[in-house]
Amino acid sequence: MDIRFYLPTRLVMGTGCVQASASLLASWGTKALVMTGTSSARKNGSLDDVTAALDAQGIAWRLFDQVEPNPGIAVCRQAAAEALSFGAQFVVAIGGGSPLDAAKAAAVLAKNELTDATLFSGPYPGGALPVVAVPTTAGTGSEVTQFSILTNDALRTKSTIFWDGIFPVLALVDPAYTKDLPRTVTVNTALDALSHAVEGYLAKRSDALTRSLALTAMAALAANLRKVVAGDLGPEVRAELMFAATTAGMVIAHAMTTIVHGMGYFLTYEKAIDHGRANGLLLGAYLEFIQAEHPEPVAAVLKACGCADTGEFRALLDALLGPKESLTPEEIARFAEASLKTRHGPNTARTPQREDVVALYQASLPTTKEFV
Ligand SMILES: [Fe+2]
Repeated sequence: MDIRFYLPTRLVMGTGCVQASASLLASWGTKALVMTGTSSARKNGSLDDVTAALDAQGIAWRLFDQVEPNPGIAVCRQAAAEALSFGAQFVVAIGGGSPLDAAKAAAVLAKNELTDATLFSGPYPGGALPVVAVPTTAGTGSEVTQFSILTNDALRTKSTIFWDGIFPVLALVDPAYTKDLPRTVTVNTALDALSHAVEGYLAKRSDALTRSLALTAMAALAANLRKVVAGDLGPEVRAELMFAATTAGMVIAHAMTTIVHGMGYFLTYEKAIDHGRANGLLLGAYLEFIQAEHPEPVAAVLKACGCADTGEFRALLDALLGPKESLTPEEIARFAEASLKTRHGPNTARTPQREDVVALYQASLPTTKEFV
């Protein structure tokens, strides 16, 4: 049994864990740049908790609260400049995937001279500032991954910094920060996590350990997404979704994502469809595509999700997704071509050909005529 597992992130999960773990922050320095989006960290209490913990440890901090959704390179450069001018020794990232991923990129940019292209390719001889991650959505799992996924206008899609040096040194995961998230955000982020678990389970790079974690994550996600469909967004559901999202993050840190993410990034960049929703739209057809060549692992996915067949799996997704966006034949052709150039195809259990990707888009979203 061949297993490779590397997770250098200290993980603390539970209600009140930021305040309870304040002393862990002191080992990373005496000056921190705190990075957030524009508003949610203030509303959900996470920013107050983090700054109180920093104050309690005598750590000076400066706030950078300008991270936009689907952050680009420019905002990461601004944050890196802020970290340097303040003399920050580490970064505390609070938020969904956007602030967390932007913080990882800023941590690299603060220590290396990089062009927009070499930001994604490396090498990074200067290392990176340590990043402490405080997630406030249950989705990306970025708190336990070595990925920073940024909008890359040069390639008109999302590109990934993939480097062990950007694993957060500490993840403080408190599900209470998700308690007021609207249903749409809850669903979209949970669909991202479900996609991580399902894709990770079926990925060529999966192994016995990551598959075990993936089954745990998808079982929790499916069970609790059914509760969300029934209108339950209570604290127990929130805690389970957070646990599952972080667990699914551990899965993709090792097994990586597959063609669903490769295809989904174009839906996000070109059609402004939320990342998790984009994956959720594609996941049902993807499962059927893999099933045709690999029925046994797909049967294990369906069993973990409590579904008798792919029809039941699709029905659960459809109940969460509601009305779907549409694509034109021209968009499908263009996105399919571009998806096949990403690293995601080769990690997919059944290697997708061009016609397969076209068929996956067609089976996932309604097609409209070019000119209507
Ligand atoms: Fe994702």
